[in-house]
Amino acid sequence: MVRLQKFLADCGIASRRGAETLIKAGRVKVNGETVREMGVKVDEYSDIVEFDGKQVKPQTKMVYIMLNKPVGYVTTVSDDKDRDTVMDLVADVPVRIYPVGRLDYDTEGLLLMTNDGDLTYRITHPKNNVQKTYEAEVTGNIGMDTLTQLRQGVMVDGVRTSRAKVEVIGATRLGTKVKITIHEGRNRQVRKMFEAVGCSVKRLKRTEEAGLKLGHTPLGRWRKLTESEVNMLKKIGTGKKSSAEMSKQVFGKNTKNKHR
Ligand code: URA
Repeated sequence: MVRLQKFLADCGIASRRGAETLIKAGRVKVNGETVREMGVKVDEYSDIVEFDGKQVKPQTKMVYIMLNKPVGYVTTVSDDKDRDTVMDLVADVPVRIYPVGRLDYDTEGLLLMTNDGDLTYRITHPKNNVQKTYEAEVTGNIGMDTLTQLRQGVMVDGVRTSRAKVEVIGATRLGTKVKITIHEGRNRQVRKMFEAVGCSVKRLKRTEEAGLKLGHTPLGRWRKLTESEVNMLKKIGTGKKSSAEMSKQVFGKNTKNKHR
């Protein structure tokens, strides 16, 4: 028996969290009955599970891609405000895939997408400290004091952020271009970190995640991950050397912030 949301993720319908939303919305039936509550378990061999009226079955072929998400797309499988979603950009992928985590509507760059529910869970679980790198164009100058503050942690929504790797990589017409690597995934975290030091983010682009680099994938286009990239991701959360381990090298042994 498996939890219904895990079963839906294994079928490539949505991530486990996304599946919870679909269940709450009444779009999932088990043996003909709509299920809205969490915690229901299904027998993957005998129960009949339907999503939007169609029976779903576990997928065997796993697909892993990276999308260069443009600004102006939501990172969900469907949007109640009828905005464009990242699904529109991967409509030519022959199997159903879903986003691994989120990028804000106004953020661009690297977004992983897959139908591998287990891997999605491990990449997005906070305990695995998966690193994400962003290039942020921010207003104003970033001096040494501000850099130190951002590196050591700033208060965001009442909780100090963990240590981050931050460096100035250039100047823009409006201010400064900064490269920032974090391993948390709080809501609008990078924007809020800069707000905390008095700057406003004018452009935000994710360039790396879990050791993968966006590289030259054109804006709005996707590419399949290579076998070695997939193998690297599969080490996350297994105790083998992974990007979580690499994060310890970057952030120091204890990735928890000690300056609270
Ligand atoms: N931080 C943000 O502020 N936005 C994102 O989309 C990702 C990280």
